Amino acid sequence: MDEKRILQLTVNGDVYDIACAPNTTLLEALREKAFLTGTKRGCDLGACGACTVLMDGEAVLSCVLLAVEAVGRKIRTIEGIAEQGELSPLQRAFVKQGALQCGFCSPGFIMSATELLADNPKPSRPEIQRALAGNLCRCTGYVKIVEAVEIAAEELAGGAS
Ligand code: FES
Ligand code: FES
Repeated sequence: MDEKRILQLTVNGDVYDIACAPNTTLLEALREKAFLTGTKRGCDLGACGACTVLMDGEAVLSCVLLAVEAVGRKIRTIEGIAEQGELSPLQRAFVKQGALQCGFCSPGFIMSATELLADNPKPSRPEIQRALAGNLCRCTGYVKIVEAVEIAAEELAGGAS
C-alpha cells in the first residue's frame, strides 16, 4: 500500500501535514514522520503500552491505531507533557522516586497516569494499579511507579512541596 495522502494531525497543539499510506499507524506517523520519538515502539502489537498517547484526553495505543483515525482529534504525546520547559509533577515524581531505569516504558506510563489523574485526581492504590495495568516495565518493577503516581497526585492536590 504505497498510495499516500496528506493527513493533518494536531499533536501537542501543533498542526502537522503528514504524508501517510492507508496503513500508516499513528505510532509511525508520530515517530517517523513528525519525528516525535518520545513515544516508543515496544511490541507493536497492542500488548506493552510503550506507545501510549492521549487522543482527546483518552489514553490509546498508537501502534494499533491508524494515523487517519487521529485526524480531527487532539493528540498529546510525552513531548507535550512538560509545562513551559518544566517537567510536570508526574515526570518529577518519576525521577524523584527512581521509577525509571532505562526509561523506555516511562513515556507510556506517564501518558496513562496523566489520563488517570485528569479523570481521578485522588486515585487509590488499586485504581492506580488498574490504570497502569496495560503498561509493562522490564526494569523497575511496579512499586516505585505506583508510588510516583501517588506522589504526583498529592502534589497536584497541593499536599506536597
Ligand atoms: S508498542 Fe504499542 S502496545 Fe506495545
Ligand atoms: S524503565 Fe526500562 S522498561 Fe521500564
